[in-house]
Amino acid sequence: MSTWRRTHTCGALRAEHIGQTVTLNGWVNTNRIYPDQVFIDLRDRYGLTQIVLESDNAEQFALANQLRSEWVLSVTGKVRARLEGKTNAKLSTGEIELEVTSLHVLNRCPTPPFEVLTRVQKDGTFGDPELANEDLRLQYRYLDLRRATLQRTLALRHRMVKIIRDYLDERQFLELETPLLGRSSPEGARDYLVPSRVFPGNWFALPQSPQLYKQLLMVAGYDRYFQIARCLRDEDLRADRQPEFTQLDVEMAFVEMDDVLSVTEGLTAAIFEQCLGVHIPLPLPRLRYADAMLKYGSDKPDLRYGMEIQELSEVAGRMELAPFREALAAGGKVRGINAKGAAATFTRKILDELGANFTRSGGRILAYIKVEEGNKVSSSINKFLTPEIQSEILRLLDAAPGDVLLIGAADKEEVVAEQMGTVRQLAAQKLGLTDPMKKDFRILWVLDFPSFLHDPEEGRYVANHHPFTAPLDADLGRLESEPMSVRAKAYDLVINGYEVGGGSIRIHDPEVQARMFRRLGMTDEQAQERFGFLLDALKYGAPPHGGIALGIDRWVMMLAGTSNIRDVMAFPKNQKARDLMTGAPACVDAKQLKELGL
Ligand code: AMO
Repeated sequence: MSTWRRTHTCGALRAEHIGQTVTLNGWVNTNRIYPDQVFIDLRDRYGLTQIVLESDNAEQFALANQLRSEWVLSVTGKVRARLEGKTNAKLSTGEIELEVTSLHVLNRCPTPPFEVLTRVQKDGTFGDPELANEDLRLQYRYLDLRRATLQRTLALRHRMVKIIRDYLDERQFLELETPLLGRSSPEGARDYLVPSRVFPGNWFALPQSPQLYKQLLMVAGYDRYFQIARCLRDEDLRADRQPEFTQLDVEMAFVEMDDVLSVTEGLTAAIFEQCLGVHIPLPLPRLRYADAMLKYGSDKPDLRYGMEIQELSEVAGRMELAPFREALAAGGKVRGINAKGAAATFTRKILDELGANFTRSGGRILAYIKVEEGNKVSSSINKFLTPEIQSEILRLLDAAPGDVLLIGAADKEEVVAEQMGTVRQLAAQKLGLTDPMKKDFRILWVLDFPSFLHDPEEGRYVANHHPFTAPLDADLGRLESEPMSVRAKAYDLVINGYEVGGGSIRIHDPEVQARMFRRLGMTDEQAQERFGFLLDALKYGAPPHGGIALGIDRWVMMLAGTSNIRDVMAFPKNQKARDLMTGAPACVDAKQLKELGL
């Protein structure tokens, strides 16, 4: 038997162990060297334990003096009570220390490129220093992953996935796998392609999601399916997007929308309850897409704060202000929000920044009115505010002294809606209303999305969700004649301004699916070529079905209180979709390319 193996973890020892001989394994978190004693905080993922090396053992003491951060040790010794006044109530092992009789260095470590230090925080949890250079952290990810914050987040991620599996298993869902090597379907984002060696010139695509396979499983009779599925999309990255990410993919047969929403809501409540002890009242509120755009200028509104967008076109039309008039004449709108109590925070610089951002994104003007005491205001459009107009705007926006009103105009309604949505969001950020650490969760469904978007570049209609989403029954008749008025049986789950899930009831009638492909600009031959297997399967007895996919990574972001998706994955890509640790993507040998016929 090797003598170095641990009997306990670094988080296990308590007063009840005093007098026992134990062995611990771990990394040197900190060391303090005194003339006759060396104190080490030894760390593993379970905690920290103080170990003491006394000078009476000369050889061992000499070695103890050489120990440095992140060396890997095995220590054997006797657990003893810490001296009075030296206990640490915040630390679970804080009553004891280990008096080492035998010290083994299992491995050494050069000075790490950044500090990998765990500290006990005021509330007794472990923390670590904020590190600025993310690229360096990603290059040495295995060191970065030693940090307490990341360890806690990945444990939370594990826990969440476990809750998901248990919840769905208890409800007769089967966890089934679908292929990674599949067929490219050009709808949606860009595919990652994999060349075939056996069929030169032919390509597999990595899945953007298991969408079609899960529908085929419904045709096959597996009426409740789920998968923790890796998805790959070659798209531009953002703070909440990675090229490789994980979905909880769910599909159900013989269901309607409410069935899918209800399973998802129960799961949502279970996750929040079991991961954070937070109670989520059900059913979740539902908001129609059109209302979301009107009130919040976003299809994923953040409801942690109010600042609803108000229509001001009518009153703006009575003002002499050219940009307002021109926008309205062009068929646009004027809308405003009330940034409550923002007067002290919104300096001239911030207001200019918001205004410049608004006009850069296609708006004509973003005016501001700072409301002061006694019916007085200071405003960028002072000259144009007659007493009647001013009091009407203040009334419409429910203004009080200390508020800042932001009023935007643009020539197109969609631009005003979206840009006022952005102003609302930026204003909330500046006011400190969006702190992800606050653990304040506003969850809702957004429904009744339009089925189509119009792509002006390609001059055709594209699916808003995906081409397999069923239109509302009432709108199906207008698929050919008025596609932009057709709404989809689609739903998005939104938490604090993030789209954390999306799904739909699918088309299960092969005829309707064929009409949908035609509407998307495919000839019947093209549809047959690309999706013939689906059209065939729908003919072979497809049940009504629908489902959803939740973005696991974004969920963990919410639960962990971070707005950086890289903080919730063990080995993420950086913002340029590179793996800085392994250097992928990288060149390959000419021989490999030749084998692939490239
Ligand atoms: P969708 O494309 O909306 O739907 O994806 C579902 C959810 O996955 C998350 N997500 C991402 N997370 C991180 N990085 C990305 N690049 C990324 N892209 C998407 C989001 C999103 O809500 N097949 C359909 C689902 C269905 O209809 O059942 C689909 O994939 O949280």
